[in-house]
Amino acid sequence: MLDKSPRPTGVNVPNDLAAHWMPFTANRAFKKNPRLLAGAKDMHYFTADGRKLIDAAAGMWCTNAGHGRAQISDAIAKMAATLDYAPPFQFGIPQAFELASRIAELAPKGLDHVFFCNSGSEAADTALKIALAYHQINGQGGRSRLIGRVRGYHGVGFGGTAVGGIVGNRKIFGSLLAGVDHLPATYDREKQAFTKGEPEYGAHFADALEDLVNLHGANTIAAVIVEPMAGSTGVLAAPKGYLKRLREITQKHGILLIFDEVITGFGRLGFAFAAERYGVLPDMITFAKGVTNGAAPMGGVLVRDTIHDAFMTGPEHMVELTHGYTYSAHPLACAAALATLDIYRDEKLFERANALESKFADAVMSLKGQPNVVDIRTIGLTAGIDLAPSADGVGKRGFAGLNSAFHDNDIMLRAVGDTLALTPPLIVTEDQIGEIVDKVGKVIRAVG
Ligand SMILES: Cc1ncc(COP(=O)(O)O)c(C=O)c1O
Repeated sequence: MLDKSPRPTGVNVPNDLAAHWMPFTANRAFKKNPRLLAGAKDMHYFTADGRKLIDAAAGMWCTNAGHGRAQISDAIAKMAATLDYAPPFQFGIPQAFELASRIAELAPKGLDHVFFCNSGSEAADTALKIALAYHQINGQGGRSRLIGRVRGYHGVGFGGTAVGGIVGNRKIFGSLLAGVDHLPATYDREKQAFTKGEPEYGAHFADALEDLVNLHGANTIAAVIVEPMAGSTGVLAAPKGYLKRLREITQKHGILLIFDEVITGFGRLGFAFAAERYGVLPDMITFAKGVTNGAAPMGGVLVRDTIHDAFMTGPEHMVELTHGYTYSAHPLACAAALATLDIYRDEKLFERANALESKFADAVMSLKGQPNVVDIRTIGLTAGIDLAPSADGVGKRGFAGLNSAFHDNDIMLRAVGDTLALTPPLIVTEDQIGEIVDKVGKVIRAVG
């Protein structure tokens, strides 16, 4: 018999938080001093103890249209009452087809097909699998190497973890995938510190791909995956010309290029997709987060016609790609996404982000000179503020900043290591940008 009797908890206060093992969270610290959220509307969160926090993180790079959008929750409720679930294998729902067409319409021409999943992690793994399968059916099965980038983040699946380059996310998980290599990160503080927008320095970091081609042979490499702006590592914009150069080199060697736009998709950099901002056409784009404004889990991969069409051969009763998820194109997620895209279009939120970019950059850059601020980077409606690590450990100052923000300054921000990341909903007003910067200044001084 399993012992189900009440047991003493190892967590001292309050013990009813014990059962939930929280993701990517310092669990013991959280449970001693919880940051509990109970509601959200527009630019604000409401805490469980009734305080109102300005959201400088769009939740977690998700709620680009702000919180509590009735149009989205109504669409979800209506869909739940009409069609709670439908199997996505061998059956379809009209909303999934409509949504795929609308996302493809927003994407650069040529990226005309969408494969749905439920998260950014699944989107990364899906794109990597499509790349491998594409080369297989194209008679180039020797192309099995996958290349990511140091400091890259592509979620937590085995594929995404393997191509990811944030050391702490990889090193306790064994050997991951074989045949993976990494490009260098695009960041050099000495040459790039306090840059607004794309740094002038660093296009040459793309040339490292030629070295990997020399090392492994082009005919062993399936794909390169990069974020146009590396978000989770602390907001690193691509240097000027870097992505173009990466495209040229991949194209020259028959290597597929995947942009992970889980953060940059849906307006974060002032365009539907960052590929448009940079005038670079990748072979696949992964997306998630903003596609439903965070209101329902959804991810997906935009795929080039040539890749999609290569699969559309063989007997017509046969499955062309043996991949998918029980909840691919879930009705509630489709409903949420369609309503979200309506809001983005009707309120011109991508254009709004574009128009606000330089004001946001100027405002955040005014924090230069505050205690321990060693770099500030801005791109689109996003900023990373690097604080010098405190003497008692890397990440402690950033963590103290997260707590100071939440408990003492009524602002929600993201802290990754000692970097504070700001990425507000695209509905943010100029006054609210001022309020955010003011509060972040207080946080920085509090942990100085
Ligand atoms: C670029 C990128 N790819 C993938 C992911 C993983 O997404 P998810 O947490 O939805 O699996 C994230 C999450 O932050 C991300 O920023």
